[in-house]
Amino acid sequence: MTGPAGLELTDIHHAYDGTPVVRDFALAVAPGEVVCLLGPSGCGKTTILRLVAGLEPLQRGRIVIAGRVVGTPGRDLPPEARGVGFVFQDMALFPHLDIAGNVGFGLRKTAAGDKRARIDAMLSRVHLDGYVHAWPHQLSGGQQQRVALARALAPSPRAILLDEPFSGLDTRLRSAVRDEALHLLKSDKVTALVVTHDPEEAMFMADRIAVMRAGRIEQVGAPADIYTQPASEFVAEFMGEVNRIDSVVRDVGVPTPFGPLPLNGHAPGTAVHVLIRPEALKVAGAEQGIVAAAPIGALPARVLASRLLGRTSWVHVCLQTDPTHRHDSLGGAEEHSHWHVRVPGQFLPAEGTELRVSLDPRQAFVFPVAAPT
Ligand SMILES: Nc1ncnc2c1ncn2[C@@H]1O[C@H](COP(=O)(O)OP(=O)(O)OP(=O)(O)O)[C@@H](O)[C@H]1O
Ligand SMILES: [Mg+2]
Repeated sequence: MTGPAGLELTDIHHAYDGTPVVRDFALAVAPGEVVCLLGPSGCGKTTILRLVAGLEPLQRGRIVIAGRVVGTPGRDLPPEARGVGFVFQDMALFPHLDIAGNVGFGLRKTAAGDKRARIDAMLSRVHLDGYVHAWPHQLSGGQQQRVALARALAPSPRAILLDEPFSGLDTRLRSAVRDEALHLLKSDKVTALVVTHDPEEAMFMADRIAVMRAGRIEQVGAPADIYTQPASEFVAEFMGEVNRIDSVVRDVGVPTPFGPLPLNGHAPGTAVHVLIRPEALKVAGAEQGIVAAAPIGALPARVLASRLLGRTSWVHVCLQTDPTHRHDSLGGAEEHSHWHVRVPGQFLPAEGTELRVSLDPRQAFVFPVAAPT
């Protein structure tokens, strides 16, 4: 059971014209928790939000908001009776209402004086004091998104639903507005379900992330757990870039060019994919943080290209596996010479530089190759 202001979705299935798009979907958002629905385009994220908002009739399952059943098949409360606020990417401000009119839209039952105070307070919270009588078209995209957020939060909803609310903004503005949004949600302890297809945005916003794939939840958990302990190859690749090699499990471990990884229950003989995060590759002499786990198997590598990406550097290398030892070092793993390495800070070795690269085995993930369907 959820507490006073939680959100609970149970056994949700949904089909459009007979085509199922959401299956076996269950998720509970605790009071004051921010949960991100993360997944590729078309996996059903918006459909889930529309079901919670009451914009789509529920076909199966149950939706509970703040302890009250708001949706079961054939018995859907209308959106305005659910006490949820929403900000959808394409749901613009009302152009015929000024900013006060927009923010006050959900406050129809509030007395005039209180209403004006609430509007002023909300505009102040999103740093738009003084814009009360401005019109939507006079505001920048970022300001409009902040007004939309103020409008959604003004009636103190039991939960708020945000569908890619920042995706129309350019990179810098996006991080500023989502930072502000997170402060607002957290200081008001608002229960929030936020949709995004951007893993970095999800990790920035979420207390927990639910990774979706084809209408189902693939994994749900704290961002750090999803990133460092992905439950599937899909989650590992969706959360961030990986180097990928094919290998076959042996008695002693899972062979990689750097040496064997622990078996972790994989049966010898199993064909696997080994996914290695670019930051799992440690360049001797380039560490600026502390390498906590002993890296395995330093190998020579030649730099193909290096680029500064801001806070990190991205180095393309060609691993030099010693042909005389190839059998031992690769141990059956397929050779894969082009690797991506992420190094904290600025590290820009010239093309052709010889480096030594080793592997932090904690950031290497092993998954059995899926049987062809
Ligand atoms: N009204 C509709 N009628 C028919 N099919 C729909 C309708 N709305 C969505 N779909 C289909 O349902 C699937 C899920 O759509 P949904 O909008 O929930 O995905 P999404 O995860 O939000 O994707 P995106 O990241 O592109 O917004 C898609 O295949 C989509 O084409
Ligand atoms: Mg969508």
